[in-house]
Amino acid sequence: MPRGKPATNRGGGPSPTATRLRRLRRTAALRNWVAETDVDVRRLVYPVFVRPGRGSPEPIPSLPGVLRYTVRDLDALSHRLEEEGVRSVLLFGVARSKDPEGRDAWAADGVVPQAVRAIKRAASDLVVATDVCLCAYTTHGHCGLVRNGVVVNDASVERLGRVAVAHANAGADVVAPSAMMDGQVAGLRDALDRAGHESTAILAYSTKHASSFYGPFRDAEQSTPSFGDRRSYQMDFRNAREALREMERDVAEGADLIMVKPAITSLDLLARARRRFPLPLAAYQVSGEYAMLKAAAASGVVDERAAVEETLGAVRRAGADLIVTYFARDVARWSREAR
Ligand code: PBG
Repeated sequence: MPRGKPATNRGGGPSPTATRLRRLRRTAALRNWVAETDVDVRRLVYPVFVRPGRGSPEPIPSLPGVLRYTVRDLDALSHRLEEEGVRSVLLFGVARSKDPEGRDAWAADGVVPQAVRAIKRAASDLVVATDVCLCAYTTHGHCGLVRNGVVVNDASVERLGRVAVAHANAGADVVAPSAMMDGQVAGLRDALDRAGHESTAILAYSTKHASSFYGPFRDAEQSTPSFGDRRSYQMDFRNAREALREMERDVAEGADLIMVKPAITSLDLLARARRRFPLPLAAYQVSGEYAMLKAAAASGVVDERAAVEETLGAVRRAGADLIVTYFARDVARWSREAR
């Protein structure tokens, strides 16, 4: 028996203050010692926009601090990312030319295949993932083919397969289908395997909501739909059970990793997915989430670093293993400064 005053009430029950949760909050050392999650930069994926042509990296007005690079810039960028501690990138291409089918998306010499080669040459240890979609390449800006005003499914999946193979041919480690077509994961797996790319992994954008937080990205990619919206293929944010069905389908179709986006509006889905699926789980903190935090910080409403750490920390706590975020390099810098 421990000596001293027993932690009991005069009435005999346990003292209400026997458990003092503040004991482990007393110093930063104690708090860090018992922290349940962290946002290590090795868990972050940095999105990279690549545009055709030459010239210096271009700013994207609605995404302050994020640039659009040309293929020539990628050698320097890859080295810098490696030095900074960033371990992976997710590539988005800007089309050289657009047409109704989005053919430039699967061109062997397209911007993304060129970018993959350039990055792999410069920094072979960076994990290179590519976004697989048509919206930046089609004149109408939809993520699939349009027939009679409708985004058709199966023909779109066939085209997405070609895009994935073009990226895998260039050496992509991971392809990430984001078009929200039914059967796109199975379609990509089949196309990749037939092309001899059975080792290329698929990161499925499984639960991608039709969201008002993709606006800045569409500026960067010039991919705003010219008519209608994406609600006939992207998910309704009101539905959680359906979100789990999307993930279940992608797992059954052979996804290697599953992803949920946007991040901060999907914490419940991350928590449920974490319990239900053993696969690596990713969350995408999208362009609008980034822009909101930047705007709030710029107007003095929040401290940028603290707010970013809190939002990313909550996404990790909800269950995400990996987070795609435009703040990846900032997090890397902050952790260098802390050392
Ligand atoms: C392509 C795609 C989008 C995003 C990722 N892949 C845009 C969209 O669906 O309109 C959004 C990412 C972001 O906002 O950061 N379909």
